[in-house]
Amino acid sequence: RATLVEVDAALPDPTALAAPARALAAGHLAAFPTDTVYGLGANALEDAAVAKIFVAKGRPSNNPLIVHIADLEDIHRVVADFPPLAQELAKTFWPGALTLILKRHESVADLVSAGLDTVAVRMPAHPVARALIRQAGVPIAAPSANRYTEVSPTTAAHVLDGLGDAIDFVIDAGPTSVGLESTVLSLIDSPPQILRPGMITLAQIAEVAPDVCYAAPTFLVGPENRPSPGLARKHYSPRAALKIVGQPSSLLQQMPNPPDCACILVDPADALTTSLAGAVRVLGRDPLLYARNLYAALHELDAEQFGTIIVQRPPDDDRWRAIHDRLERAQD
Ligand code: TXA
Ligand code: MG
Repeated sequence: RATLVEVDAALPDPTALAAPARALAAGHLAAFPTDTVYGLGANALEDAAVAKIFVAKGRPSNNPLIVHIADLEDIHRVVADFPPLAQELAKTFWPGALTLILKRHESVADLVSAGLDTVAVRMPAHPVARALIRQAGVPIAAPSANRYTEVSPTTAAHVLDGLGDAIDFVIDAGPTSVGLESTVLSLIDSPPQILRPGMITLAQIAEVAPDVCYAAPTFLVGPENRPSPGLARKHYSPRAALKIVGQPSSLLQQMPNPPDCACILVDPADALTTSLAGAVRVLGRDPLLYARNLYAALHELDAEQFGTIIVQRPPDDDRWRAIHDRLERAQD
């Protein structure tokens, strides 16, 4: 069973982080908070350490991982080339929820990149993540700290529920602030392509890289041509059947057993029309707050064993793109 280490999110105690940092450096696994979601970390320079991530998550090893650094000077341990556009993006968005795909440095473990000659890298905006990586003294490969295809964790309790038996340490610094995984941006070809939308939007990136675009939706291209092998359609799924609809009340009325359904709403006014449901969560009209609370709502409703989660379709503008992406991947 994992050892739980509680630290302050803003000012983590270095002595509390010493044991998990040593464990990481020695090739063991430790889960830690980032600005986006909790990550499952391993020494990115050692294949044997990285292999443990795939085993713990039950994740296919053709799905490459993100390498996390604490300080910009460490980028040269991870990438072979740090071109001017990447420097400009890093200056604007790091530390933060933007992952860059660049040419891989040969010292990065092969397994991290799943055999590609590229690598995903980011500097997370979380004092605990950065202190831990600094103390470990090596770049840290970390996918989200959940079992493969399950909902990503935004609290240490979510990590323990899913992976508590499979890892050595879980660092608890409370809930994460962004709540959805980082935006993944490939700088390998021109124009730069967003492979996975996140809460850093296309419009924000376009201020630095005006020709940035979205990669073609991965379900339109064959698995061999996917720019990001990890972008399988089925992903981020709760156990319950998830349905996205315009009007939750109409679907609820057609369900044989409404108390077995939970509703996730944008608008508080709709709570009145969904009172037949077993549970109702209102996440609101601010995409940043909605994203922050979405995964916790899915984890909670799953723990309460609802058979169906009915999600009111959120607004269409681009600030909601990552939310739509995750909801669609979670849908049955
Ligand atoms: O917010 C996040 O990004 C979290 C925290 C822990 O940092 N991490 C995360 O990692 O979501 P993971 O492994 O669940 O997702 C990594 C994504 C996958 O879609 C993967 O396919 C893509 O990044 N990726 C990684 N390396 C890549 C590469 N060399 N080329 C293309 N895509 C890559
Ligand atoms: Mg993940």
